[in-house]
Amino acid sequence: MALSDFDLVLFGGSGDLAMRKLLPAMYARDVCSDLPPTARIICVGRNESSQEEFLNFIDSHSKQHIKDQESVDEHKWSSFLKRITYVALDATDVKTYGPLVETLRPEEAITRVYYLATPPHLFAQICDNLAATSLATPNSRVVLEKPLGRDLDSAKQINLDVGKVFAESQIYRIDHYLGKETVQNLLALRFGNVLFEPLWRREWISDVQITIAEKIGVGNRLGYYDTSGALRDMLQNHLLQLLCIVAMEPPTSISPDAVRDAKLQVLRSLKRFTPTTLSQNIVRGQYRAGHVDGKAVPSYRDEPDAPKHSKTETFVAMKAEIDTWRWAGVPFYLRTGKRMADRLAEIVVRFKQIPHSIFNQPTSSFQPNSLVIRLQPDEGLSLNLMAKTPGDSMRLKQAELELDFREQFKAPRMEAYERLLLDVLRGQLTLFMRGDELEAAWEWVEPILNHWEQDDTAPVPYASGTWGPAASSALIGRDGLQWREEALPED
Ligand code: BG6
Repeated sequence: MALSDFDLVLFGGSGDLAMRKLLPAMYARDVCSDLPPTARIICVGRNESSQEEFLNFIDSHSKQHIKDQESVDEHKWSSFLKRITYVALDATDVKTYGPLVETLRPEEAITRVYYLATPPHLFAQICDNLAATSLATPNSRVVLEKPLGRDLDSAKQINLDVGKVFAESQIYRIDHYLGKETVQNLLALRFGNVLFEPLWRREWISDVQITIAEKIGVGNRLGYYDTSGALRDMLQNHLLQLLCIVAMEPPTSISPDAVRDAKLQVLRSLKRFTPTTLSQNIVRGQYRAGHVDGKAVPSYRDEPDAPKHSKTETFVAMKAEIDTWRWAGVPFYLRTGKRMADRLAEIVVRFKQIPHSIFNQPTSSFQPNSLVIRLQPDEGLSLNLMAKTPGDSMRLKQAELELDFREQFKAPRMEAYERLLLDVLRGQLTLFMRGDELEAAWEWVEPILNHWEQDDTAPVPYASGTWGPAASSALIGRDGLQWREEALPED
């Protein structure tokens, strides 16, 4: 669907996200001729830079983040820069909004989007100021970047504040994991085929593992991260969204509310933790010094500005359960961490053991079927099956059916932000969280946060460059299972 002409206003327009992700994503779509010729990007920032200074700033801070560097040629880049206008204002001071009012085109002919890539404590003020200057019109859209709250109350407050100015159908809450190609492929896999859905339930699935592992440490985000931690930063949003897509009932259509209702039902069916079940089923860790890719890296507590006794977790592993007819008793193991052995995001669905062996091999020698859905670093699926080994004897061994999306479709990939920005500009809400989903996710994690706050014990240490603390293997090991990489044969 072709885009209509638009004014995209980026609050936080000179910030890190704009430079690293948003402008490179818009450039990539521009190069693919997706942007109407007169579409504009208005970057809003506090600094009194001139237009020329700002374009130089983008040149030195954003250009290097364009994924496909081969697509960067001077002509295309300079024509992209022509779309950008810099407006200096103090987002908290309505009296400074004049230049923005003057810059924007009348809304009748175009789509107008306000992207709030700012700290969330500014959301309320910016929305009020957009309302006071009559910029928040019934057809405009607002995009909210994470962190969307740090607990249930603050998430509710954001919903309330933004909701005073914008209707729910105008609000786009970003979770960039939903923009990843494989996440949408999971929808295609589940609901575009008859093969899996009949098996997609407790009768046939033994357990599900969802992992997002990163090699990077906290980087230069310590100020934010130390007050957040892995539970808030990754689990409450990205991991729970992946869990929802895996576990939801078939929505009646791909329309925003059908999908979001189905996800909400999962979030509301997650088994609540009590202080006892919580300590048994959740492991939190913090990285210590170690080696990643052969390079020595410091302990979290030795990162610049880190509090020496910080109790912030950089790793979480948990066993979650969903109390529904479809999923009762099926463990969902969720795990995320920084400074781990590899960069990896994947979902592993393990099916049950065969009920009886007709071969001269015991049932226990059959590897249960498993489906691995890879989001990162490459995108693909593997289905593990038992097959006969060649030769005279009837020996069965595990074999892999592999689908590499890049190889299969040979089409250029879109980064998550490219897709999500296009969806905002087209007015498609399916891949964005609704307010009640956000609150349901916080409601479920809140007892964990409260418990940790009152608990004096620190997260368990793990060496950088490993798969996390031993307690994480023990958590899944208690159920007679292993994380996927632990079960893989050595190379
Ligand atoms: C962000 C987190 O939401 O996701 C970061 O704040 C994390 O801490 C990032 O590094 C991971 O995203 P991706 O797409 O690189 O896996």
